[in-house]
Amino acid sequence: MSAQSNVLLMTPDASLAAEVNRALSGNGHVLEPTWPQTARDLLAHLTRSSAAMPVVLVDLDPQPRQILSDLERVVARFPGSRFVGLADQLSSELLLESMQVGLRRVVSKRTMHGELHAVLDRLMGGASAGGSGQGELLTMLSASGGCGTTTLAVNLAYELARQPSAAGGQRALLIDMDCHYGAMATYLGLEPRYGLDQILNYSGPIDTDLLSTTATAWGDELHVLASPASIRFCKPEPLNMDRLEQALRCARQAYRHTIVDAPRVGMELASILATASTRTLLVFQLTVKDIRIARQMLDALVEWGVPPGNLLPVANRYARRQMISLDDASKALGGIRIACVRNDWSAAIAGLNYGQTLAQAAARSVLRKDLQDLLEQVVPAYKPT
Ligand SMILES: Nc1ncnc2c1ncn2[C@@H]1O[C@H](COP(=O)(O)OP(=O)(O)OP(=O)(O)O)[C@@H](O)[C@H]1O
Ligand SMILES: [Mg+2]
Repeated sequence: MSAQSNVLLMTPDASLAAEVNRALSGNGHVLEPTWPQTARDLLAHLTRSSAAMPVVLVDLDPQPRQILSDLERVVARFPGSRFVGLADQLSSELLLESMQVGLRRVVSKRTMHGELHAVLDRLMGGASAGGSGQGELLTMLSASGGCGTTTLAVNLAYELARQPSAAGGQRALLIDMDCHYGAMATYLGLEPRYGLDQILNYSGPIDTDLLSTTATAWGDELHVLASPASIRFCKPEPLNMDRLEQALRCARQAYRHTIVDAPRVGMELASILATASTRTLLVFQLTVKDIRIARQMLDALVEWGVPPGNLLPVANRYARRQMISLDDASKALGGIRIACVRNDWSAAIAGLNYGQTLAQAAARSVLRKDLQDLLEQVVPAYKPT
């Protein structure tokens, strides 16, 4: 980060300015020496500046509602700047209202010392994957509850994120579209503050910066756009699906690999996801019920115009000497090729219980090996590591 990447602060509180200065000192961000006190001063300041201010920090206290309403037109007028709120108390209402006005983040004043510079790095650095073109997008659908979609999504994403990349800094994005349980965050031991609703319900343009700064990082490898159920389980925000395709396009620009976990979605939404994806994996188990539903889903997707070659049914928890063989399943699904992942309870449960991926919890497991084999079938450039 160069020393010219200035940060402007709007606050009537000189002690906050001193604190922000301390929080930023020594990590390459430079706070403008003078600070506007009100939205009106801020508008004048930004209008006078010859170059766009990369980041504007805005003190939302003591009257967040009033300040956000005053800020709305300033944010709309300077699309080249990223606005970040600072507040004493964070609530989901405040976060939602801030996003609706066009703020990129709201940071708690109490934790800003540890948090602020990372937020600024991400805002100024853009998406971290280094991908400039069209990344891979895999959608995971499921033919029944509990058939293993989230386990597969998390571990496939992690294996892809470990791939060496000429662009360096490789990360994969996981999008949790399970609006009922939002189990992905729990699986990974995350407590996200922002989720997919912040992207899909955002009033301004969705761009790669917005995606990467809204996602929650899991280690260096994964970014997770959590389900709204992970943010507020008792009353998750509804998702504005009209913006889904735009969000997916941005994900493909920002990340070399994006995996969407989409269980229990209607066929219209499933077909939107499958059409936007490079491949769609339909996870099922070798039971009559799952196979019947999988067949209906495949037929419906093709009817909605998804090319059959982009669809791959994955029989999870496969064991030899099962009542229904892979051949039987393939025939019942209309002769389509199917992939399989073996039953490996101890590996699956070790990852789940420790909030770890298989690479960490069960590196030599057959489950991990099968997932690597699966990736070789669906991602042309993939090499197991
Ligand atoms: N190949 C496998 N072998 C053994 N156990 C597995 C395998 N895949 C997943 N499991 C286990 O099956 C259970 C359900 O997995 P998971 O939560 O991933 O399913 P899901 O399809 O995402 O469920 P939901 O419908 O709730 O979204 C978990 O206990 C997981 O550890
Ligand atoms: Mg799941």
